[in-house]
Amino acid sequence: MSQETWSSVDHYFSRALAPSDAILDAALQASEAAGLPSIHVSPLQGKLLMLLAQAHGSRSILEIGTLGGYSTIWLARALPPGGRLITLESEPHHARVARENIDRAGFATSVEIRVGRAIETLPLLEKEGQGPFDFIFLDADKVSYPDYLAWSLRLARPGTVIVADNVVRNGAVVDPQSPDANVQGVRRFTERLAAEPRLSSTVLQTVGSKGYDGFAFAIVRS
Ligand code: SAH
Ligand code: DHB
Ligand code: MG
Repeated sequence: MSQETWSSVDHYFSRALAPSDAILDAALQASEAAGLPSIHVSPLQGKLLMLLAQAHGSRSILEIGTLGGYSTIWLARALPPGGRLITLESEPHHARVARENIDRAGFATSVEIRVGRAIETLPLLEKEGQGPFDFIFLDADKVSYPDYLAWSLRLARPGTVIVADNVVRNGAVVDPQSPDANVQGVRRFTERLAAEPRLSSTVLQTVGSKGYDGFAFAIVRS
């Protein structure tokens, strides 16, 4: 099996089940035109996030790592009327592009973007009494995943779903000696998932147009 096969199977199912629409197309085009890196989730992965949040009946969602708002739009589509989403982004330029994309998608009032390093904006959310969030998506710098997990628990309730992107890293995650700080971040994150009695967790490896990677899923125990 090769990247070529993974990509054509990804495109086959995407065309059938998660076809692009004018709003998602516009978000990706505007992101590319603005020079943002093409590191958003794939269409099928975005739809998976939407379906999970929907199945869970999520009314409040927290996302860490906005980029151009592509995954944000998928997640916002899961919200019922009156639902809300807060997304955290450190790069002002990314946040500006995301703001336009999200507004164009019809979520100007339901989605709030907080600009700043997440490690600084997460404590503010707690101080403001935001949360508990029903669904939390981690997708910013992988080095900080252990910290983001700790903050997620503070901003969660029993039953909260936590999803983390990019935990397999083309298989590099299994190397304890890896010099890659992202790999070390994901490994520490995994150790904390395993050691945390408040969480029940699993990982799903993925292949597709984005290569070989995976998602971690956790539920806060009741
Ligand atoms: N969730 C997006 C992709 C996010 S890419 C999608 O799938 O569409 C990761 C994003 O996290 C980038 O925009 C990057 O600027 C942002 N980021 C990196 N470090 C961060 C930090 N410390 N705090 C907040 N955001 C950060
Ligand atoms: C990178 C970040 C992501 O969230 C992703 O899905 C792929 C790549 C990156 O920083 O390279
Ligand atoms: Mg990612």
